[in-house]
Amino acid sequence: MNSLVQQLDIYKQEIISYNVSNADEVEAFRIKYLGTKGIIKHAMGFMKDVPNEQKREAGQLLNEFKLMVEAKYESLKESFSASEQITNTIDFSLPGNIYNVGTRHPLSIIRNKIVSIFQRLGFAIAEGPEIEDDWHNFGAMNLPEDHPARDMQDTFYVNQNPTWLLRTHTSSVQARVMENQKPPIRVICPGRVYRNETISARAHCFFHQVEGLYIDENVSFADLKQTLYFFVQEMFGKDVKVRFRPSYFPFTEPSAEMDISCLICNGDGCNVCKHTGWVEILGSGMVHPKVLENFGIDSNKYTGFAFGMGVERICQLKYRVNDLRLYSQNDIRFLKQFTSVI
Ligand code: PHE
Repeated sequence: MNSLVQQLDIYKQEIISYNVSNADEVEAFRIKYLGTKGIIKHAMGFMKDVPNEQKREAGQLLNEFKLMVEAKYESLKESFSASEQITNTIDFSLPGNIYNVGTRHPLSIIRNKIVSIFQRLGFAIAEGPEIEDDWHNFGAMNLPEDHPARDMQDTFYVNQNPTWLLRTHTSSVQARVMENQKPPIRVICPGRVYRNETISARAHCFFHQVEGLYIDENVSFADLKQTLYFFVQEMFGKDVKVRFRPSYFPFTEPSAEMDISCLICNGDGCNVCKHTGWVEILGSGMVHPKVLENFGIDSNKYTGFAFGMGVERICQLKYRVNDLRLYSQNDIRFLKQFTSVI
């Protein structure tokens, strides 16, 4: 009993002068005295050795000791958090820091929008390599050997191997899809394409396309028209007028280019529509039977349509950007103006 009293006195002295300077030390105090393996637990263990007639007194002593430890713990906690408040220099009422987050590139915004419209019609996304071979870019697409597009003037060829080239359109992706899949095929092919052009406000050596391909039984020109009409309405609104003009592409027959009424001048005539009131936005047509046969697709059973559009052109109409060079100059004063999907 005496030894218990002595031992508790030593602890009491220690507790009275106990000081802390941070939250970790408050926690260390708690663990030392009040923890599951702490001093109080340990002291309670002495009770069993105390003779019965002294148990009452010992119990009281221990209880007092426990209350003292708990009171000290509370005051340490409080004094510490009070001193923390004084030394805390953060003013939570100040406005926060503004972090600059990037914005999507305008071409990405428009490409995503185009792709999502066709995805809603059930088109899947297909992608392919930017370095292509002659067959996928030209041959399979029914471009004759002497077609001017193959000319060095228009196409970038790879020096080490001139049968390789930078794709001039994403029709090469359609070729790869027809090579690997059986009809029904319904894909949309977004991607960067390259042409050997002198860089100016109106032309660039690379630009972006979204091409589409739909092959199944009984696909008709009416399907082509309705699909593209739906696209235009979703992209430009219900009031936009559409017209198809006969055209020529080696890989489609018949072929048509689609114009929309000029959004800049509402058809009155301006620089963008060259005072015609109409702007061309895409090429299209029924897939040429030869192209289908190139991939072993029976052209008596299957028909299809294809179309291709330039993302920069759609962007120009939507955002009224007149100089193609702006898209690749990486000037953030230009780029950060396009934040919303329109
Ligand atoms: N490949 C054509 C181009 O790059 C676009 C196109 C695709 C036209 C499909 C008709 C059909 O200009």
